[in-house]
Amino acid sequence: MQKPCLLSCFLFFFFILQLSFSCPQDQRQSLLEFKNLLTQSIKNQSTAEIDLGGLKSWRPNSDCCKWQLVRCNALSPSREVIDLNLNSLAPSGSVSSSLLRPILRITSLVSLDVSSNFIQGEIPGDGFANLTRLLSLDLSRNSFNGSIPPQFFSLKTLQRLDLSMNVIGGTLSSDIKELKNLEELILDENLIRGEIPPEIGSLSEVRKLSLKQNMFSGPIPLSVSQLTKLEFFDLQNNSMSYEIPEGIGSLANLSTLALSRNNLSGGIPSSFQKLTNLETLQIENNVGLSGEIPTWLFGLEKLKILRLGGNKLQWNKNGSVFAKCKLTHLSLRSCGLEGNIPDWLKNQTSLLFLDLSTNMLQGSFPKWLADLRIGTMIFSDNRLSGSLPPSLFQSQDLAVLALSRNNFSGQIPDTVGESSVMILMLSENNFTGPVPKSISEIYRLLLLDLSKNKLSGEFPRFDSGSLLAVLDISSNEFSGDVPSSFGLNTMMLSMSQNNFTGEFPQDLINLPFLFHLDLHDNGISGEFPSFISRLSPFLEVLSLRNNSLKGSIPEDISNLTSLKILDLSENNLDGSLPSSLGDLKGMIESPVSNSSAFTFVFSFSIEIQDLAVNWKNSKQGLASRNLYLYTLLALSKNKLHGEIPASLGNLKSLKLLNLSHNDVSGVIPQSFGYLEKLEILDLSNNNLSGEIPKTFSNLSELNTLDLSNNKLSGMIPESPQLDRLNDPKIYANNNKLCGMQIQVSCSSSTAKTEPLPEEEEEEESLFSWRAALIGCPCGFLMAVVLMYVVGYFNHPPPPRRSPKNRGEIQKKMTT
Ligand SMILES: *[C@@H]1O[C@H](CO)[C@@H](O)[C@H](O)[C@H]1NC(C)=O
Ligand SMILES: *[C@@H]1O[C@H](CO)[C@@H](O)[C@H](O)[C@H]1NC(C)=O
Ligand SMILES: *[C@@H]1O[C@H](CO)[C@@H](O)[C@H](O)[C@H]1NC(C)=O
Ligand SMILES: *[C@@H]1O[C@H](CO)[C@@H](O)[C@H](O)[C@H]1NC(C)=O
Ligand SMILES: *[C@@H]1O[C@H](CO)[C@@H](O)[C@H](O)[C@H]1NC(C)=O
Ligand SMILES: *[C@@H]1O[C@H](CO)[C@@H](O)[C@H](O)[C@H]1NC(C)=O
Ligand SMILES: *[C@@H]1O[C@H](CO)[C@@H](O)[C@H](O)[C@H]1NC(C)=O
Ligand SMILES: *[C@@H]1O[C@H](CO)[C@@H](O)[C@H](O)[C@H]1NC(C)=O
Ligand SMILES: *[C@@H]1O[C@H](CO)[C@@H](O)[C@H](O)[C@H]1NC(C)=O
Ligand SMILES: *[C@@H]1O[C@H](CO)[C@@H](O)[C@H](O)[C@H]1NC(C)=O
Ligand SMILES: *[C@@H]1O[C@H](CO)[C@@H](O)[C@H](O)[C@H]1NC(C)=O
Ligand SMILES: *[C@@H]1O[C@H](CO)[C@@H](O)[C@H](O)[C@H]1NC(C)=O
Repeated sequence: MQKPCLLSCFLFFFFILQLSFSCPQDQRQSLLEFKNLLTQSIKNQSTAEIDLGGLKSWRPNSDCCKWQLVRCNALSPSREVIDLNLNSLAPSGSVSSSLLRPILRITSLVSLDVSSNFIQGEIPGDGFANLTRLLSLDLSRNSFNGSIPPQFFSLKTLQRLDLSMNVIGGTLSSDIKELKNLEELILDENLIRGEIPPEIGSLSEVRKLSLKQNMFSGPIPLSVSQLTKLEFFDLQNNSMSYEIPEGIGSLANLSTLALSRNNLSGGIPSSFQKLTNLETLQIENNVGLSGEIPTWLFGLEKLKILRLGGNKLQWNKNGSVFAKCKLTHLSLRSCGLEGNIPDWLKNQTSLLFLDLSTNMLQGSFPKWLADLRIGTMIFSDNRLSGSLPPSLFQSQDLAVLALSRNNFSGQIPDTVGESSVMILMLSENNFTGPVPKSISEIYRLLLLDLSKNKLSGEFPRFDSGSLLAVLDISSNEFSGDVPSSFGLNTMMLSMSQNNFTGEFPQDLINLPFLFHLDLHDNGISGEFPSFISRLSPFLEVLSLRNNSLKGSIPEDISNLTSLKILDLSENNLDGSLPSSLGDLKGMIESPVSNSSAFTFVFSFSIEIQDLAVNWKNSKQGLASRNLYLYTLLALSKNKLHGEIPASLGNLKSLKLLNLSHNDVSGVIPQSFGYLEKLEILDLSNNNLSGEIPKTFSNLSELNTLDLSNNKLSGMIPESPQLDRLNDPKIYANNNKLCGMQIQVSCSSSTAKTEPLPEEEEEEESLFSWRAALIGCPCGFLMAVVLMYVVGYFNHPPPPRRSPKNRGEIQKKMTT
């Protein structure tokens, strides 16, 4: 009987409240003022229609307790506002932190969330002094700068404080600028402003403290050991230095400690043995952390996520592990692991993620490991050998397998087609034999990197529904026709340095998103494809270097408007240089520096961070991001003749131009002097005559030049840059060149450059862009991985079942 009474009493009470009280007048005013400020500053920045979301319900003459995003205290007659959920209101741009002032007058607030609002400027600290009832404060994902206001430390009731993803502590860098000449002032109090103040220890109620991704520096204050209720402490991605305080080990309720990506040093404090509630320990990428990885860590029974990679921490070779924990994530990247893959992983049956890359592991891939059903396995950069156990690919949980740069051998198991892998990287091993045809049946394969092995035979065909976006099979021994049957999602095909023969396949024009096609060093023959302009309009890289193509370059090649790298050298091309080359838009516009793929860097999942780091550190990964910005046109070692079209001077963003070892004649166009970005120019071994254009003195970036073996004459133009290019080889074997660079005076009109003895062919060493082309794919790979994996990991594509599974499903349905 009591319950209905209570309920009706409550309803009655509630009804009365609704009738007689609305929220306090002054609080409503404050909220409206906030709304006003926000809409104004959004309007000031964008003319687009503003979607105010929940703020639309904030109307002047209504009860603010009925507004969206606002919650009032239903139990108090004065109906004060206690909860404001104001996240993600500003769609973009920036709003000033003074915007918060009106709401800070609502002293009854218990919970305030203004995260993700593009708020700039310092936190209005004084306003917080009166919010004495605050339990939860979320200011994350804004652009607050300055330091933590001291008023926060008097908020004794605070249980949850989230300041992550701001630039608090950012005063440091601007002060450093002012002090740039005063090295001895390193301890000046200005420089200490970015530190976490020791007063943080007075937040005695705090359970969650996130300061992730700011610019905090200095030591972790010892006073954090006073935060006895702390359960979650996140300081990732700041610039914290010095040792991890022992005192953290006394925070008995701590379940998450995340200190990755800082500058911490010293070892793992032994007091951590007492952290019996610890579930997550992330201390990777602190280059100064050193010492042994204590085996007692694995005795912390609740531990699930352990990330220790990228430090100087060393595995204890003598210690044996009796793991009491059931880990889901383990990273021991570059931790000096030796010997076989450790046995104690056998009973880690909950693992989803395992990264043991960059160690000195040897021996074979154990069958028990293959059977653990792990989602992501990264063992790149070890010394593992032997063949892969077939059961590895029979797991429907495997999503990422990275085994690059080991010494695995044998054939890729036939079972590969049964797997559900999305990213498969087996580069730089010793795999031999053909690739099983079934590999094209992996229903969600996005990236396949088999480069630098000894794989042979024909490469399997993929059907047009395949999701495969990135394929690298370069540097193998594949043969037969150039593979041309791929899915419509294909973005990158790197098939160089194989023994592919036959003609350039027309089917490649059916790949609408292709942006990278590299076929250099193969045996492709026949006429240069007349349909080349029908390749994808997104094509940025086309390399057909060192094949056996004949014929001429079609005029309409300029329809490939995205092309930034075109390399057709070392073929048998003849005909003249089409003047339309000067219309290649991709080589005219300066490259957009942050390629779209990299904008995902902020959102990629933790899983892929490891993969990306892996990639960046990999031996083959040259400074790939910058190489992506490399724009080059190389047509050397063909039989091209005729004059050089002046239009080539339009290609303003070109960094490398190589027309050497052809038979082009006439003069060097004046317009070449306007290729302002040009760093490397090779016109050697042609039939060029006349003077070197005076405009060459504009080429201020030029650092490598070869004009030798032509019929050039006259004075070499002078400029600070050209004066430095004074190696006589640059100008050797010409007609009548003179100039201070070659120390031939121009006054004696008979001056003639000394014919130098023929030197060994040096082009490759001169142009390190062979490396550029090899390096390029790595950059793409990373970008594309990020791009794809972001989307796909969070929303895996609906399993398009493999035929086998389809059969099973059918069986199930019929029985
Ligand atoms: C918007 O711009 C007007 C005039 O340019 C200025 O007076 C006002 O302060 C700005 N409002 C905000 C919130 O920035
Ligand atoms: C904080 O940001 C605001 C606005 O961007 C700027 O005016 C101010 O100088 C910055 N303050 C500090 C301490 O960096
Ligand atoms: C805090 O409250 C006191 C008393 O109500 C008032 O005088 C003071 O101005 C308030 N401080 C702020 C920053 O609003
Ligand atoms: C730790 O958590 C338990 C359970 O939530 C709680 O009873 C205990 O009071 C907490 N200890 C401290 C020091 O806050
Ligand atoms: C770390 O923080 C910086 C800015 O403070 C950001 O650019 C970078 O992406 C962050 N790194 C990670 C891995 O979150
Ligand atoms: C890293 O920490 C050391 C002290 O352990 C300090 O000398 C060094 O300046 C710090 N480096 C950075 C970039 O903060
Ligand atoms: C490991 O044990 C061997 C002998 O058992 C000993 O010589 C060596 O010093 C030990 N190494 C470490 C790092 O403890
Ligand atoms: C793993 O095996 C060891 C003995 O080898 C045992 O002590 C430990 O309890 C096991 N751990 C789990 C999580 O099963
Ligand atoms: C591949 O195997 C051969 C012999 O089987 C060995 O000589 C070579 O070093 C191996 N290559 C790599 C990259 O490990
Ligand atoms: C790779 O494995 C082969 C045997 O399969 C062995 O002969 C060779 O020495 C290994 N190479 C390296 C670099 O370990
Ligand atoms: C390349 O393939 C051709 C024809 O298929 C063959 O004659 C030749 O030996 C192969 N070359 C190499 C290096 O495998
Ligand atoms: C190339 O572009 C020109 C003009 O933009 C167009 O007329 C021509 O049809 C295009 N050629 C091909 C093969 O797409």
